[in-house]
Amino acid sequence: MNSQASTLLDNAFKKDVFEGLTQYPKYLYSKYIYDKAGDKLFQDIMELPEYYLTNSELEILSLYKDEIVDLFYKNEESFDLIELGAGDGKKTKVLLKHLAEKKIDFVYKPIDISQNAIDNLSEALGKEIPNVTVRGEKGEYFEVLERLQSFSSSKKIILVLGSNIGNLLHPRAIDFLTKLKDTMTRDDLLFMGFDQKKNPQTILDAYNDAAGITAAFNKNLLVRINRELGGDFEIEKFKHWELYDPETGTAKSYLIATEAMKVTIEALELTIHFDPWETIHTEISQKYDEKVIKWLAKESGLEIETSFKDSNAYYTDYIFRKKL
Ligand code: AVJ
Repeated sequence: MNSQASTLLDNAFKKDVFEGLTQYPKYLYSKYIYDKAGDKLFQDIMELPEYYLTNSELEILSLYKDEIVDLFYKNEESFDLIELGAGDGKKTKVLLKHLAEKKIDFVYKPIDISQNAIDNLSEALGKEIPNVTVRGEKGEYFEVLERLQSFSSSKKIILVLGSNIGNLLHPRAIDFLTKLKDTMTRDDLLFMGFDQKKNPQTILDAYNDAAGITAAFNKNLLVRINRELGGDFEIEKFKHWELYDPETGTAKSYLIATEAMKVTIEALELTIHFDPWETIHTEISQKYDEKVIKWLAKESGLEIETSFKDSNAYYTDYIFRKKL
């Protein structure tokens, strides 16, 4: 990248788009899917019959809310419930309602990369569960993790629902878990959802739904580049493609150019070329099994306190503690 180009790249989105589209093979980071339209599309995904993750975790939270809340509130000590990647709080509300009903003293701190998601969630919670104290923060995981350390000295329960960790390949997941562990004391808990390995067809269907919502979600990356960076992607000339490797448990999403193309992105002063069937890798959604989760925990200095499964065993929520 020359110095003239670098002065153009005054924010992370620009820089990442420039880098991802000038590499071979091309890639874009999935975190950039989540603008207002992307948030809405993800909410629509959570309502899809094929996207089993949400209902699986909702089932777990509903079935085990008493046990979970007992673990959170063990010595009747007030706590901060810090949720990373809160989104619209659809799943968390089950816990929040239960905590509010039991008149438990806690502060809910939802953290999301989307300010739009934080604002909507705070407003919705104010109406739906007014007894809960909400203090939302916009930020990216690793950035917020640093801030976590300087948060209040209250006991922390860190929530990462929705198999959000699945966007990270194992080395980065270990890095993430290790950093989380470093923010924790022996009293704190980490409650985290992991989508499990299962019939590969079930997984492929979840990421390639019949209504095409996931395709639109994936393509929102290009829509966003067009709108925010003056790109001229012809969205309909890209095909959403999903791949699942049952051995590694990695689901990968792509956007594939269906013909040769030239795309110009004004804000980057960049023209890129696509060969016919050239790919842009956009997302990974990792699937897990018990062996892998035990290994991740060990590598990250965490120990498993307990875990909860849905009735299909599609999904598992784990509670981790910092290992002494
Ligand atoms: C929010 C990252 C957990 O990977 O399952 C849904 C995002 N992508 N459909 C996932 C997503 C396509 C989702 N996470």
